[in-house]
Amino acid sequence: MGARNYVATPGGRVAGEVRVPGDKSISHRAALLGAIARGTTEIRGFLESADCTATLGALSSMGVRHERLGPAHFIVHGAGMHGLCAPSQALDLGNSGTSMRLLAGLLAGQSFEATLVGDASLMQRPMERVAEPLRRMGAAVQTREGRPPITVSGPRPLVGRDHRLELPSAQVKSALLLAGLYATGRTRVQEPGLSRDHTERMLGAFGVPVERESNAVSIPGGASLQATEVRIPGDFSSAAFFIAAGVIAGTEVLVIRDVGINPTRTALLDVLRLMGADIRVHARGAAGDEPRADIEVRPGRLRGVEVPPAAVPVAMDELPILFAVAAVAEGETVVTGASELRVKESDRLAAMSAGLAGLGVAVEPSPDGLRIHGGRVRGGAVDSRGDHRVAMAFAILGARAESQVHIRDVQNVATSFPGFAAAARATGLLLAEEG
Ligand code: S3P
Repeated sequence: MGARNYVATPGGRVAGEVRVPGDKSISHRAALLGAIARGTTEIRGFLESADCTATLGALSSMGVRHERLGPAHFIVHGAGMHGLCAPSQALDLGNSGTSMRLLAGLLAGQSFEATLVGDASLMQRPMERVAEPLRRMGAAVQTREGRPPITVSGPRPLVGRDHRLELPSAQVKSALLLAGLYATGRTRVQEPGLSRDHTERMLGAFGVPVERESNAVSIPGGASLQATEVRIPGDFSSAAFFIAAGVIAGTEVLVIRDVGINPTRTALLDVLRLMGADIRVHARGAAGDEPRADIEVRPGRLRGVEVPPAAVPVAMDELPILFAVAAVAEGETVVTGASELRVKESDRLAAMSAGLAGLGVAVEPSPDGLRIHGGRVRGGAVDSRGDHRVAMAFAILGARAESQVHIRDVQNVATSFPGFAAAARATGLLLAEEG
């Protein structure tokens, strides 16, 4: 685990170029699909963070071997669709909601029982959203009043269903598709708006005949996966912190190289442009099935906006850094429709509004969003509440504060972005680590 606290000092000369580690969502999926494929899956750009290591660890406990060939370079020896074996103890997924929800789907198709647990934050997160539709497919899934531990017991015959989700969710969609691989008949998942579609793309690359309509995806049961090579681009959600840094604290151009720009991930760019940001995207072709680009940002004056409702669900992970940007924009920024933020690694609406208020920013929380009046940001101390994205958002905002910002409890930055502070310093940000 990394440092306990950050100290962000205002100023610095933020310019040049930076790379961010591999995409977290795609890394989880590469490990999971590689595990049940026939053959050896080679993965380049794998995110070596606590969350993705938790997925690999859970798979190891079920008999799936992997090897590390070098930095971010792994091979997973596929066990085949029916080659996983019963773990000898509960699978501990640490802070990783994606690991837990996707594994719940995968476990529904296995012939043994397994229990999923996590850290204090993960043990509080809602799990009926995956448990309930998995039960409708025939799986035996238990939660503790809707929260972990989750116990999935097999073998159970699964039946493909037509699922209609109330909220867009890539984790729920992916869990149902993973279970659907083991079901008889088709599994279809329809969302009110399209969530990140990495699973659909990658299932296709592993040879599953995926059918897609606008906001729906379906697969036949009984497909088998064939190992492939996976190349993973930089994580847009990690790049978002440096995109924001370049916009609010840049001194010259800042380029973030080799970032995944899957259109289900990049709504933050649209919102920042609406606020007046100068952002240029230079496409670099695709990393496997995922488009990637260099993203060039220039500093500029920003104005507050009403964030378009359609952008909110697809920019959910980027809202903490967007709130930080709004704190230095002119006028008001309003976000609604973001109640999901209350059940992420922390209650991100509460964590961000308390932190911003502590730095003297005028912020009004509502049940499903924040209203932020941008302007001056004082120095002071904020608590990240153990949430990686809250910690990084305040680390960037510190560059624009009037004096130092101390950010407490930042160890979990290692769940998604190991090396964040060093990367931040390489861009010219004055970010020290303590403890
Ligand atoms: C993720 C899906 C999103 C996102 C999370 C990662 C994924 O969650 O917020 O960080 O990899 O599938 P939801 O599925 O809850 O929207």
